[in-house]
Amino acid sequence: MSKRPLFHFTAERNWINDPNGLSYFNGEYHMFYQHNPENCYWGNMTWGHAKSENLFDWQHLPHALHPDSEKLGDIDGCFSGSGLVKDEELYLFYTGVEMTTKQLNQFGNTITVGPDDLIPTQILAKTKDGINFEKIEKINIEIPEECSKAHVRDPKVWSKDGKWYLAIGAKDNEGGKILIYKSNDMKSWNLFSKIKEKEMGYMWECPDLFKVGGKDLLMFSPEGVSNDGQKSIAGYYLGNFNYEDGSFEHEEFQRVDHGFEYYAPQSFEDAKGRRILIGWLVGHAPLDGEEWNGMMTIPREVTLKDGKVSTLPVEELKNFRKEKIAEFSEISKAKNCYDIELRLKSLDNFSMTLFKSEKDGLKLNYFKERGSFVLDREGVINGFEPLSTFGILRECKISENKEMNLRVIVDRCVAEIYINDGEKVMSAVVNPRDSQIEIEVSGDILSKEIYILKK
Ligand code: FRU
Repeated sequence: MSKRPLFHFTAERNWINDPNGLSYFNGEYHMFYQHNPENCYWGNMTWGHAKSENLFDWQHLPHALHPDSEKLGDIDGCFSGSGLVKDEELYLFYTGVEMTTKQLNQFGNTITVGPDDLIPTQILAKTKDGINFEKIEKINIEIPEECSKAHVRDPKVWSKDGKWYLAIGAKDNEGGKILIYKSNDMKSWNLFSKIKEKEMGYMWECPDLFKVGGKDLLMFSPEGVSNDGQKSIAGYYLGNFNYEDGSFEHEEFQRVDHGFEYYAPQSFEDAKGRRILIGWLVGHAPLDGEEWNGMMTIPREVTLKDGKVSTLPVEELKNFRKEKIAEFSEISKAKNCYDIELRLKSLDNFSMTLFKSEKDGLKLNYFKERGSFVLDREGVINGFEPLSTFGILRECKISENKEMNLRVIVDRCVAEIYINDGEKVMSAVVNPRDSQIEIEVSGDILSKEIYILKK
């Protein structure tokens, strides 16, 4: 049975990482992504491109940006960046890199010798037709003294009140930080704000700053925040960004997703005014017999509910609920492509096993004494070492043990579990055997709706 997911975006073949340039342009959703056209491991960073009308049926398009400009400085890679629609054109802002030292790694991909042997340049490109891209010019931003010149990347651009803002990931001697620049014309940029926090990793990648329910959410991916075999995670600060003086007051750091592979999310606003978030689920190596490595999450809509950030699958996913079944015992028909909604009276004695065979599967248990869910994928790794190395267990604290709901999306080799209207999410990549297609749930269930997802 193929393990390629149907609802999680994958490249036709080979390695992918971060979503880039997410945008709604000329009536269609555009997704760009970090792609290695050559093989299933990181390298040769090129912008892959796909478009969609419904965020789930993606049409693969020719690559948008190739690492081919010595003049602009992207000869060794077109790294991450963002998209912005203006005057009927789609502008792309990205980081071009040149490597000052080079070596081949075990997969035959070119990497630097030392971690700092990189010259990043921020670059502007654009398209009118959404297919052909023109690289325009270097974006000049002044990097403050204290910041590393080698690690400045992933520009995210947005507009507000007739001005343009560009946030970029950076680091100084103390750790990661975000630099925010401001422009009147999208051409000349002045440093406007610096945001950092102690003990939050050594480099902040993929920044994003947007409004949700009247608050400002600063999302980023700090590297080196040690966590169960996964050193870098994605998170956010919710607070108030002062557009007058660039200051930012915020609450505690929160993870975007409490599962395993989640990293480098990016958001954008669509024509309906929704804030849509797509993250990358790290691919470690291709699963048995597959020719792709890495996937994007289900696109999630971000809202603020009672002061808390909620992310839930965009409503379009419901259009793929093609058959409703009454009992969990019929789930094998779904062949591991389903969408479940559960209401629970309390979390006491709750347990659920997805991808279940007679004896094992992906287990979600609630531990009352710890006040948390624990997701355990040991039973669904089946000898695929990289998943064990990245971690077998993840824990997610739940503030209260009251009536609550769960939404569970299973998509062949991946599960996303949304807890309490999307207040928390846990995602996991798994490597199921063909026989692991059952489900078992126990606990105080008030109601359940089970749908087979089909394309
Ligand atoms: C995040 C990241 C970015 C960089 C890109 C390179 O995963 O490291 O900071 O632009 O990937 O592929």
